[in-house]
Amino acid sequence: MKDRVYVFDTTLRDGEQTPGVSLTVDEKVQIARQLDKLGVDVIEAGFPITSEGEYQAVKKIAREGLNAKICALARAAKVDMDKALNADVDRVHVFIATSDIHLKHKLKLTREQAYQKAIEAVEYLKSHGVEVEFSAEDATRTDPNFLKKVYAGVVEAGADVLDVPDTVGVCYPEKMKEIVRNVKEVARNAIISVHCHNDFGLAVANTIAGIVAGARQFHATVNGIGERAGNASLEEAVMALKILYGYEMKINTELIYETSRLVSRLTGIYIQPNKAIVGDNAFGHESGIHTHGVIEEPSTYEPIRPEMVGKKRWFTAGKHAGMHGIKAQLESMGIKPTPEQLKVIVAKVKELGDMGKMVTDADLFAIANSVIGRVKSEERAVDLEEFVVVTGYKVMPTASVKIKLGKDIYSASQTGVGPVDAAMKAIQEVLRDKVKVSLKEYRLEAITGGSDALAEVTVKVEDAEGTQASARVAGPDIVLASVEAMLEGINKLILKRKHLNIGK
Ligand code: KIV
Ligand code: ZN
Repeated sequence: MKDRVYVFDTTLRDGEQTPGVSLTVDEKVQIARQLDKLGVDVIEAGFPITSEGEYQAVKKIAREGLNAKICALARAAKVDMDKALNADVDRVHVFIATSDIHLKHKLKLTREQAYQKAIEAVEYLKSHGVEVEFSAEDATRTDPNFLKKVYAGVVEAGADVLDVPDTVGVCYPEKMKEIVRNVKEVARNAIISVHCHNDFGLAVANTIAGIVAGARQFHATVNGIGERAGNASLEEAVMALKILYGYEMKINTELIYETSRLVSRLTGIYIQPNKAIVGDNAFGHESGIHTHGVIEEPSTYEPIRPEMVGKKRWFTAGKHAGMHGIKAQLESMGIKPTPEQLKVIVAKVKELGDMGKMVTDADLFAIANSVIGRVKSEERAVDLEEFVVVTGYKVMPTASVKIKLGKDIYSASQTGVGPVDAAMKAIQEVLRDKVKVSLKEYRLEAITGGSDALAEVTVKVEDAEGTQASARVAGPDIVLASVEAMLEGINKLILKRKHLNIGK
């Protein structure tokens, strides 16, 4: 096992700087408690100078008696630092920009003036007995010699942690390693930390590079929220450092997912489905090959056990689905189809997948039930050969059906108030001489939302003697599903009549 790495969570500070996010005091406290349960080492609770509410929230979190150290952010200015100190935090994270771009255009300071301010700020905070973390804002665009001088100066002044912020996310792993090694030369006993933004999608990679080069703390946010493209995502950095690199952290990884959900719910920031670790699809399998592999041995296609991050694996049906996956999915719903029925269910799922439809659990349940409830092929008296329906504005809905009855094929056309009505009447007409069927009940339900929802049609049919049978069929086309349900009902009715010796 490699060295212990400290996790500094800034969800409540940099994360809250996500455009559009603003948390109430109570919400911040709720997240802080969850982060503490998760096991982060430091919680950056906020930036107290920004508002009275923010100050109160930091103060409240500091008084919660959490295991994590509570930290507040402050600029290298007395007013900020006093506000942070008054919030009773364990650590103050003080920063001043050091890159020439920031010095010239934002702070209007010379390098020497910024250097002096940094030293004075650290000395001031240390004289108040708190832990001090110092950030040279925009460190990755700062002249390396000047950066080294600043960090050497703040170490001398008593800084406990030297944070290297990649403020605008322009660093890359090789450069981050170089910077951290450079800072290490002057760090003495101070811990080196990295704070990476994700403008080029490299925040986690840069964080890892920093740790590999000798940093022992990293800043991160839950779900990677934060300014612009966000910060390094806590869950990704933790899992990669732990599983791929073997570093030790205090995080209870099983609470990662519930923490992610809480932060998403309270901040209103949606998690993309393909987000690593916590996205909905992170442990979902559709393709038949993958599903088969995972059922046999999860590690074939799962580099992380879902339970390890508090998630569950799931299988979904679609055009890539295979027998094994659908069988497992059905079994988890308590449905055990015969091999023959399973084949038909899989074919129907693939057919829907080819139409671009995602088959939900509810859809699969309906498909399976309609297939399992089907009259066996050798017992079917009637089957659909052809079906055409014409409908439209100022057009009388007309349906034509060709039905196979034994070895013969019969056809009929009928009009109706709508395409379903016309179709039902055409079927009744075809079978008029064989079995007189009336439709006693017809119910249509959309299983999932959207105009491509799978429709479930339930019918109850009755013959002249009062024998009844019902059937349920699910399909993407309402009219066709209605026709299939009607024929299914008729097949069941004929079978029932045979068993009851009716019409012999
Ligand atoms: O990105 C940044 O530079 C920051 C500092 C306040 C450390 O968030
Ligand atoms: Zn930041």
